[in-house]
Amino acid sequence: MRHHSACSKKDNSIAGCILINIHCKASLQNSEDTSVVTEHICTNNNNNMPHLFSPLKIKNIELKNRIVVSPMCEYSSVDGFANDWHLVHLGSFATGGAALIITEAAAVSPEGRITDNDLGIYKDEHIARLKQITDFIHAHGSIAGIQLAHAGRKASHQQPWLGGKQIPSDQEHGWVAVAPSSIAFTDAEEAPIALDKAGIAKVIADFKAATVRAIAAGFKVIELHGAHGYLINQFLSPASNKRTDEYGGAFDNRVRLLIEIIEAVQEVWPKENPLFVRLSTTEWTEGAWTADDSVTLAKLLKDHGVDLIDCSTGGNIAGVKIALKPGYQVEFAEKIRKESGILTGAVGLITKPHQADEIIQEGEADVVFLAREMLRDPHFALRAAHELGHETAWPVQYERAKW
Ligand SMILES: Cc1cc2nc3c(=O)[nH]c(=O)nc-3n(C[C@H](O)[C@H](O)[C@H](O)COP(=O)(O)O)c2cc1C
Repeated sequence: MRHHSACSKKDNSIAGCILINIHCKASLQNSEDTSVVTEHICTNNNNNMPHLFSPLKIKNIELKNRIVVSPMCEYSSVDGFANDWHLVHLGSFATGGAALIITEAAAVSPEGRITDNDLGIYKDEHIARLKQITDFIHAHGSIAGIQLAHAGRKASHQQPWLGGKQIPSDQEHGWVAVAPSSIAFTDAEEAPIALDKAGIAKVIADFKAATVRAIAAGFKVIELHGAHGYLINQFLSPASNKRTDEYGGAFDNRVRLLIEIIEAVQEVWPKENPLFVRLSTTEWTEGAWTADDSVTLAKLLKDHGVDLIDCSTGGNIAGVKIALKPGYQVEFAEKIRKESGILTGAVGLITKPHQADEIIQEGEADVVFLAREMLRDPHFALRAAHELGHETAWPVQYERAKW
């Protein structure tokens, strides 16, 4: 294990480093091969390197800083294909210095798309354009990740800028959505069909086949989308999963689909490559999924070889109001990190370099995921380095613009 003693030199990072030791010990116990250990490289405090710019090694990936581009649907594909938009959109984050760039939700099947303009990874023909994007990202020193997703009952909708409403299955661009139970997201929507056993087996096989394509497309990180009320989240939550078979009811049954997807993905995903899961870590309402459920699940996922939980919230129960404020979801990343020992990512209204740095410094999360701020400023990481007084590499083409 490297560099842990360096961390303890700085008073306010002592607590974080104790946790880091626990991570490493646990990872060693769970790893067949010590070269596949999740390892932190702590801040080099002698150089006063900002915590946000301390590298992080996760299995065979080394993130050059703690800044991750959060998945953001662009609804700009035809039949799932990436195109020039995706290359420019995702490529700009690489020239902007983010360590890890995760694509928008990429549907593992046509029926698993939110809109018929979603990015997809359900055909071998999708691979070539995605490979062009991962090649560009890797050539510019960032790492490419892909979010694999199935929308479940939130499928068959319009693009947000056309209103975002459900498209009934009998209308053009509409199709029948599937879900754990035949319960619509809102009363105004058509109810989905409850998946039978063959349907569940297809979902699992689709995630596995998508993983094979993600490897061919050059992605080094996979994030499974288990949040925001999409299919996996619908199975996890007692609010949307009313099944009476082994995929519903008790906690162990509701998490079964996610565990089976992970097992299928891991049959093909290289064991030295990181696997993330995004969760809605609370549903912000009584009688639904709670932060404690997320801790229990995080421990289980850690035992199943998942490396990091991307800690989002909400999205599965219509009408729930979330009190938004800067860093409003960070507490869940901190809780899960501390109580389960897994790496976590914090997301949600993280917009300022010092705010992001403090989250890492205080041991509240291992990485920060930024979405909207990245759209405002794809070069956020370059700006953050400047504001935090850190010297970082710029694309040579941009060097004349350095502050
Ligand atoms: C345009 C847009 C598209 C999004 N698409 C996705 C997505 O594909 N998958 C996902 O998990 N979250 C998605 N999100 C949520 C973001 O990843 C992020 O969790 C959320 O915006 C909060 O972070 P922020 O305050 O930094 O924007 C999207 C957000 C935006 C703004």
